[in-house]
Amino acid sequence: MRTFFPALILLCSVFSVQLTAQTLGFRCTNPSTTTCNSLIDYRLPNTTTLAAVDDLFDIKNLRSLLAANNLPIDTPGTKTVNASEILKIPFPCLCRNGTGISNHRPVYTVVPDDGLYHIAAEVFSGLVIYQQIQNVNGIPDENKISIGQELWIPLPCSCDDVDGQAALHFGHLVAAGSTVAGIAEEFDTTESTLLELNGMSNSSQLMADSILDVPLKVCTTIVRNDSMDYPLLVPNGTQTFTANGCVRCQCDAANNWILNCESSGIIRPNGQTCPSTQCPGTAFDLGNTTADSGCNRSRCAYGGYRNNTIYTDLTQESTCSPPGGSNNSNGSPSGNGSNGFRWSFILGVSLIVLHHLRW
Ligand SMILES: *[C@@H]1O[C@H](CO)[C@@H](O)[C@H](O)[C@H]1NC(C)=O
Ligand SMILES: *[C@@H]1O[C@H](CO)[C@@H](O)[C@H](O)[C@H]1NC(C)=O
Ligand SMILES: *[C@@H]1O[C@H](CO)[C@@H](O)[C@H](O)[C@H]1NC(C)=O
Ligand SMILES: *[C@@H]1O[C@H](CO)[C@@H](O)[C@H](O)[C@H]1NC(C)=O
Ligand SMILES: *[C@@H]1O[C@H](CO)[C@@H](O)[C@H](O)[C@H]1NC(C)=O
Ligand SMILES: *[C@@H]1O[C@H](CO)[C@@H](O)[C@H](O)[C@H]1NC(C)=O
Ligand SMILES: *[C@@H]1O[C@H](CO)[C@@H](O)[C@H](O)[C@H]1NC(C)=O
Ligand SMILES: *[C@@H]1O[C@H](CO)[C@@H](O)[C@H](O)[C@H]1NC(C)=O
Ligand SMILES: *[C@@H]1O[C@H](CO)[C@@H](O)[C@H](O)[C@H]1NC(C)=O
Ligand SMILES: *[C@@H]1O[C@H](CO)[C@@H](O)[C@H](O)[C@H]1NC(C)=O
Ligand SMILES: *[C@@H]1O[C@H](CO)[C@@H](O)[C@H](O)[C@H]1NC(C)=O
Repeated sequence: MRTFFPALILLCSVFSVQLTAQTLGFRCTNPSTTTCNSLIDYRLPNTTTLAAVDDLFDIKNLRSLLAANNLPIDTPGTKTVNASEILKIPFPCLCRNGTGISNHRPVYTVVPDDGLYHIAAEVFSGLVIYQQIQNVNGIPDENKISIGQELWIPLPCSCDDVDGQAALHFGHLVAAGSTVAGIAEEFDTTESTLLELNGMSNSSQLMADSILDVPLKVCTTIVRNDSMDYPLLVPNGTQTFTANGCVRCQCDAANNWILNCESSGIIRPNGQTCPSTQCPGTAFDLGNTTADSGCNRSRCAYGGYRNNTIYTDLTQESTCSPPGGSNNSNGSPSGNGSNGFRWSFILGVSLIVLHHLRW
C-alpha cells in the first residue's frame, strides 16, 4: 500500500508536466514569422471593466474586444465584468520554431510587489506559466524583476491550417466536467482532430482549466497575402474590425461561408477619414452585392489593406451550393495522435519503479 502514495504523486507530476507542455503554445508548423489573428478565453480574476481588460491585453481598440465577444458595438468601456466571467481576447499570433505564441503582445508593466508567478497565474489567470514569461523575456533570475519592467506575455496560439483548410485556433478554457466529444460537438470539429492538435492520445487526458486548441472553421476571403491582416480568420457567428478599424467583417455560415465586409463608417481617433472602400471602376462599395441572377451574384469584397489603401475586388459568388473545396465533411486523418501519453506513461512507470527501488 505504501507505494500508492508516491505513485500517485509521480503520476500527478507527469500529468502536470503535460499541462505545462500544452500551455507552452500550440503547435504551429508554419514557417517562423508567419502571423495570424487568434482568440483565447480569459477568466477574469477580479471584477473589473472592459476598458481595463482591453488595456491589460493591449487590444488596439475596444471595438475589437466587443466584436470578439458579440457585445453591442456601443457598449461603453466603463461596463463592469464580474470576477470569473470569461471574455474572449483577440490577439495577434506568431509562429516561431514550431510553436505559436502571441506576437510580442500583450506587454505587461511590472508594478510594486509583483512576482512572475503572480503575473502568470493570477493576473493572466494561468494562460501562461511563469517560466514561459521568464523564457521569452530572457530573465536570468525569476526573482529579479523590477518595477516598470516590460514583460511580453506569450499566449498560446497557432496559424496552422486544419485538414487543409484555414482555421482560427481558439484557446478554449476547458470547463470542469466537459468532454472532448462534447467540445468537438460544440465547436463543430471532431474528437480526433482535437486529440491530434493537442497531442493527446486518449480523451480521458482532458483536464479542467487547461487551454485546449480548438480549430474554428472560418469564412473564405480574397485577402491578399501581402495585406497587413492576412490571413483574416473570422469564424462563424463572429465579426471583426480590420484596416485600422475602417472595415467591419462578419462571418455567417449560412451565407455559404463567404466573408461579408463593409465600411465601418467610423471616424478614426486621430480625425483621419478612412480610405475609399469602393470597388474600382464600379458604383459598388464594400459589401454591396448585385441581385441574384440564377445562382450567381457579384459582391464588392474586401481584399486587405496596406499603408493607407484598402483593397477591394468585385467577385462572383454562388448562392446555391457551397463554394468549391469546402464541403462539410469532417473526414480528418485521425492517425494515432502523438506519443505524448504513451511516453509519459512509460516515464511515469519507470519513475515509480526507480522510486520503488530506492524505497
Ligand atoms: C455581477 O455581479 C453583480 C453584483 O454582484 C450582479 O448584480 C450582476 O448580476 C453580475 N453580473 C453578471 C453578468 O453576472
Ligand atoms: C527551436 O527549438 C529547438 C528544439 O526544440 C531548440 O533546440 C532551439 O534552441 C529553438 N530555437 C529557438 C530560436 O528558440
Ligand atoms: C484582485 O483583487 C484583490 C483584492 O482587491 C487584489 O489583492 C488582487 O491583487 C487582485 N488581483 C488581480 C489579478 O488584479
Ligand atoms: C483511455 O483511458 C481510459 C482511462 O485511463 C481507459 O480506460 C481507456 O481504455 C483508454 N482508451 C484508449 C483507447 O486507450
Ligand atoms: C502571394 O500571392 C501571390 C499571388 O497572388 C503568389 O505569387 C505568392 O507566391 C504568394 N506569396 C506567399 C508568400 O504565399
Ligand atoms: C453559425 O453560427 C450561428 C450563430 O451565430 C449558429 O446558429 C449556426 O448553427 C452556426 N452554423 C454553423 C454551421 O456552425
Ligand atoms: C451599397 O451599400 C450601401 C450600404 O450598405 C448602400 O447605402 C448603397 O446604396 C449600396 N450601393 C449599391 C450600388 O448597391
Ligand atoms: C453563373 O456563373 C457561371 C460561372 O461562374 C456561368 O457559367 C453561368 O453562366 C452563370 N449563370 C448565370 C445565370 O449568370
Ligand atoms: C507602404 O508600405 C511599404 C512597406 O511597409 C513601404 O515600403 C512603402 O514605402 C509604403 N508606401 C507608402 C506610400 O507609404
Ligand atoms: C467532400 O469532400 C470530400 C473530401 O474532400 C469528398 O470525398 C466528398 O466527395 C465531398 N462531398 C461532397 C458532397 O462534395
Ligand atoms: C495505430 O496503432 C495501432 C496499434 O498500436 C497500429 O496497429 C496502427 O497501425 C496504428 N495506426 C497508425 C495510423 O499509426
